[in-house]
Amino acid sequence: MTQDELKDAVAAAAIEEIRPRLAGDTLLGIGTGSTTNRFIDRLAALRHDFRGAVASSEASAERLRGHGIEVFELNEAGSVPFYIDGADEVNAHLHMIKGGGAALTREKVVAACAERFICIADASKRVERLGHYPLPVEVIPMARSYVARELVKLGADPVYRQGVVTDNGNQIIDCFEFMIDDPEAMEARLNAIVGVVTNGLFAARGADVLLLGTAQGVERLLPA
Ligand code: A5P
Repeated sequence: MTQDELKDAVAAAAIEEIRPRLAGDTLLGIGTGSTTNRFIDRLAALRHDFRGAVASSEASAERLRGHGIEVFELNEAGSVPFYIDGADEVNAHLHMIKGGGAALTREKVVAACAERFICIADASKRVERLGHYPLPVEVIPMARSYVARELVKLGADPVYRQGVVTDNGNQIIDCFEFMIDDPEAMEARLNAIVGVVTNGLFAARGADVLLLGTAQGVERLLPA
């Protein structure tokens, strides 16, 4: 199966995961990325079965609206029963690296407001140790050089993601050569650097379930 077919399969599995739990007042938390886009496209057929969605990016909000799904501000929504999103890497504890699409901060905020985080990913995203994928860090623009120097002290090779401005008006530094042994500790350590808005480690609030697309079918995995 191709990677796109695996993404389609996990998007379909996520629909089956939430479908029995949808009600007229349900607001869904929706992530960002190519896997999530496939989920959004499938969600369109169910749009009369739930109230609407909260999106983690302008791109996802636009796609949802394009399907006739109402998009709400998170401040109006309060908590959401589910947050459905992809990942760039995910380990056995369902800790993740996210933010390849630069939406990490809003993703982390919506995930924090979710009762359950459903991660949807193809098998290429499953790793033993996080860090082969460069870890994104969102910084306020004036702090970029300072934060980069602090990241070097922690052992990373920081690279400014040229030309990218986040939905929050900030910039992204990607940490290369940065293998992570203790994701929860590193998540907290990076967030403590002045000028960091957030980082792409989702460990303190990892996923509750992983729907992993493999050649043998979709595996439903819980945190180890
Ligand atoms: C967006 O900022 C990311 O966190 C995405 O969720 C992640 O990059 C997965 O994207 P794909 O589904 O496109 O691989």
